[in-house]
Amino acid sequence: MSDTPQKIVEEAYDNIADWYLAWVEGQNSPRESYTDKVLQNAAALSSSKPRILELGAGAGVPITRMLLDRGAQVVANDISAKQLKLAAVRCPEATLVAGDMLALEFEPASFDGVVGYYSIFHLPRKDQKTMLAKIHDWLKPGGMLAFNLATMDEEERSTGSSWATACFGEVGFEGVEAEELEAGDGKLGEDDPDFGVKFLWIAAKKRSI
Ligand SMILES: C[S@@+](CC[C@H](N)C(=O)[O-])C[C@H]1O[C@@H](n2cnc3c(N)ncnc32)[C@H](O)[C@@H]1O
Repeated sequence: MSDTPQKIVEEAYDNIADWYLAWVEGQNSPRESYTDKVLQNAAALSSSKPRILELGAGAGVPITRMLLDRGAQVVANDISAKQLKLAAVRCPEATLVAGDMLALEFEPASFDGVVGYYSIFHLPRKDQKTMLAKIHDWLKPGGMLAFNLATMDEEERSTGSSWATACFGEVGFEGVEAEELEAGDGKLGEDDPDFGVKFLWIAAKKRSI
């Protein structure tokens, strides 16, 4: 029997966790500015200590740490046990939840914001829409989701802003902002794994009541 896509990803990240940590510490990306949008939006919802879910948190840097330092209560998920072990050292205050993000269960309307960087696109496309619907259910009305997608998905189909906007609309999000940005502002060396790669960055809100 062949492994599921999730099992393959889990094993890959268990194997490259130390390499990825060293690499990510030298990377600039829009993660911080998108996380800032989520935190500012949560503040406007008047949560003094917002509850934020991070999907595919990796080793907890830079974003789990940023969320904690900005006063959020963080639930950080990852499918790779090795990644979560690294996150536990860097982010002991976070609640770490191991496992496939698609299998997570939370109370409806229990998060002020959700982020998931370089992670949700590892799911097959049919599961990405299911994931968006689950996130929508977990968000409080007016809560924001921010994440990025590869512009080419795992099935080699393009994931443009029109796909994202349509998909988000069907799930029930509004105010969808989507922009395609080249990794590292186009300044990466040819030996960087993200050289020449573009990502679609997205922020969207659950409709307020
Ligand atoms: C490229 S890393 C990104 C880590 C971190 N979010 C960042 O921005 O650096 C992708 C992470 O997503 C996790 N991941 C991939 N598929 C997942 C799934 N189905 N459920 C939970 N985590 C997943 C991987 O284990 C890995 O830690």
